[in-house]
Formats: sequence, C-alpha cells, structure tokens
Amino acid sequence: MRRYLVAGNWKLNLGPAAGRELAFGLADRLRGRELRGDVVVCPPFVTLAAVAPAAQGDPVQLGAQNCAAWDKGAYTGEVSAAMLAEAGVRYVIVGHSERRQYFREIDQDFVGKIDQVHAAGLKAIFCYGEVLDERKGGRAEAVVEAQLRGVLPRLEGANAYNLVLAYEPVWAIGTGETATPEIAQHMHAHSRALAGQLLGAETAGALRILYGGSCKPDNARELIGQPDVDGGLIGGASLKAADFLGIIDGAEAACDG
Ligand code: PGA
Repeated sequence: MRRYLVAGNWKLNLGPAAGRELAFGLADRLRGRELRGDVVVCPPFVTLAAVAPAAQGDPVQLGAQNCAAWDKGAYTGEVSAAMLAEAGVRYVIVGHSERRQYFREIDQDFVGKIDQVHAAGLKAIFCYGEVLDERKGGRAEAVVEAQLRGVLPRLEGANAYNLVLAYEPVWAIGTGETATPEIAQHMHAHSRALAGQLLGAETAGALRILYGGSCKPDNARELIGQPDVDGGLIGGASLKAADFLGIIDGAEAACDG
C-alpha cells in the first residue's frame, strides 16, 4: 500500500515572515491528525530556516525546490543537498518544467542533482511531463518515456523510498486547466510501466507517482483517487492554508475510496 504524498511547491513566493505564518498555520491545523499520507512544504531557500520549526514531521515535512549537482566547491549561487539536509530538508524537487524552460536544465543536470539528493540521504521528487503541442500531436507518451529513460537508468541508488515521480503536464501548470482523472491515470500507469522496465517491477510497484498541474481542493479527491495517482505536487493552491488543507482532505477522502 503506497502512502500518499501532498507536496506544496511555493516557487518564488513567501519570504521568511509570510512563510513562517503559513507553515505554522498548517502545522496547527494538522497536528494530532492521524494522516494516512505525508505532507511536505517546499519554500524558497531563504525561507527554509523560518519554516523548519513547523515542519519537523508531525506531520508536515520540509522540502526544497532545487539543489546543486555538486557537493561543494566554486559554484557561486548554488546550495548543496547536504546543506539542505543540515537545514532540516527531507525532500528536494528536481526537474520541474520551470527549471527546464527558464534555466535550460536537461537530463544530465537532473541525474547529478538526484544523485546528490540521494547521497545526502534525502528524497527526490522528479518532475516530468509533456507540453501542449506534444499532447496535441499525440506524442505525450513518447515524451514522457524519453524524459524517464533519460534519467532513471543513470541514477546511482534510486529506489521506491528515496525517489518520488511527479507527472506534471506543462499545459496544466498554473493554467487552471487540469488533466482529467482519465488522462492522469493513463499517464501514471504508463509512467509506472516504464519505471518497471527501468528500475524493476518491485520498485515500480512501491514508487509514489504524484500528479501536478492545477490540482485544487475540488479536484484532488478524484485525481488522487485514481489507482496510480499517489498524491499531488501543488503550486498555486499550496500558498493558501485553506486550499492546501482542502487538498489534504481530498487525499484522505481518496483513501476512504
Ligand atoms: P500549479 O503548479 O498547482 O500552480 O498548477 C504545480 C507545479 O508547478 O508543481
């Protein structure tokens, strides 16, 4: 049985003061609830220290949005996975479409980063997904296959415990347009089958695959209720406590069937 994961990607939002307020608000509302899944918030680097006291795992955990592909050295502006671990981080997002699009990150970067995440004892959330033209052209499955084949077999020690996949169709990110539950299920099942080829059937069966792209309180239950959807990576709706909590409630409701 896979535990769901709901992770909030705050992107370039919320400095230390606002981040602390949101994180403590979430922690207060969730404390003492016996959740059947995991909850993670991923603030900007400078907000991590302010959020850390509210995200020590009961049940909220701390995540980061990026890390360096190296462990140390002359790489101005970079932050290593080991430093993030020391700051209380447990999860690191890698391969987000905004990193691909605006920062020209490619497979080789993702392999280096995920290996660093794993070397630091952390879990990676690896994002992938097709853009609108690719979907319209009937190439969504092939694009996803190339994105997974370009990274998963090259990882040094990936397993179902330290790796989470996040299928994020780019046409659904921040657009208010969501994949239908049928599309999400189809792409997740496709991803899991590929993961089976690349990492082995046992790992693929236990691997959590999140959906990301305009996931909201009113669609979370149906999306996360799909057999191969194991939670959500949440952008916009993670910035408001009520919305993020509503998505967690959706995930809990999905556990009830
Ligand atoms: P969104 O973003 O929920 O705002 O669509 C999701 C993401 O980018 O991870």
